[in-house]
Amino acid sequence: MKVKKAVIPAAGLGTRVLPASKACPKEMLNIVDKPAIQYIVEEAVRAGITDILIITNRGKGVIEDHFDHAFELEEALKKKNRAQMLAELETIAGLANIFFIRQKETKGLGHAVLAAKSFVGNDPFAVLYGDDVIIGEDPAVGQLCRAYDEYGLGVVGVKEVSVEAIQKYSSLEVEPLKERVFKVTDMIEKPTPDQIFSLYSILGRCVLPAKIFEILENTPLGAGNELQLTDAMKTLAREDSMTAVDFTGIRYDMGSKLGIMQANVEVALSHNEIGEDFKAYLKEIAKGL
Ligand code: UTP
Repeated sequence: MKVKKAVIPAAGLGTRVLPASKACPKEMLNIVDKPAIQYIVEEAVRAGITDILIITNRGKGVIEDHFDHAFELEEALKKKNRAQMLAELETIAGLANIFFIRQKETKGLGHAVLAAKSFVGNDPFAVLYGDDVIIGEDPAVGQLCRAYDEYGLGVVGVKEVSVEAIQKYSSLEVEPLKERVFKVTDMIEKPTPDQIFSLYSILGRCVLPAKIFEILENTPLGAGNELQLTDAMKTLAREDSMTAVDFTGIRYDMGSKLGIMQANVEVALSHNEIGEDFKAYLKEIAKGL
């Protein structure tokens, strides 16, 4: 596989999940017993990615701590003979080569990705949005990387969403290439009902050529006076250089309160330690709804 590098932007303000995200980055919010960003790093690693750059900002040092060794804790677990938990903690610190850089101003997702320019060099790279957790057998980003290997073009991860939802996201103009894979010919951010191309929207993952940096540097500020990654990807689409993969797996929006609850309930139901007890609890609760 050609894509070995990934970028995880995690420098947003997370205003939709305040006050939870006031002192704790939303990417560190829990899904049962792991922070959201760990699921994302694990997805990238399962897809064969070896080098990961996490874009953080002031106040997000806990993300760095999470992917580092915690010697005091590890010593305490050794003394208590908690071998399994010790092994789990040690694994987190060795998942991949993880690097960090700070986005000095919160000027949008495109601006955050631009901070990855020297890390990426001339290689193609994956972007995994730090608040979009996707759970499935076949890692979503791996499905995009395979499309990159096959077509050599940028790839966006897409799903069909409702007419109401698409007006808050992006809408893509697509032509089918093969099962679950499309050519993208145009896209629009936050379309009004008469501007909707299709119900396919970009959700949480993309694979981009290094050329995107030059495009980003020449893209004017867009919605919210921020540098929008979708504006730069639109340029690629109009140059005939973009494909889309309707990935398998369930996506949870950890930047929204409902998404956080859905992720927690569904992961808890299949959790090997608490799954059965949680199911019994939910059934009991459901009787009174
Ligand atoms: P969002 O638009 O969901 O993040 O960006 P946000 O700005 O935190 O959201 P709200 O609306 O205030 O709740 C998607 C991803 O891009 C990152 C975020 O951390 C998130 O993982 N991001 C966004 C950055 O790294 N830098 C930015 O300037 C903006």
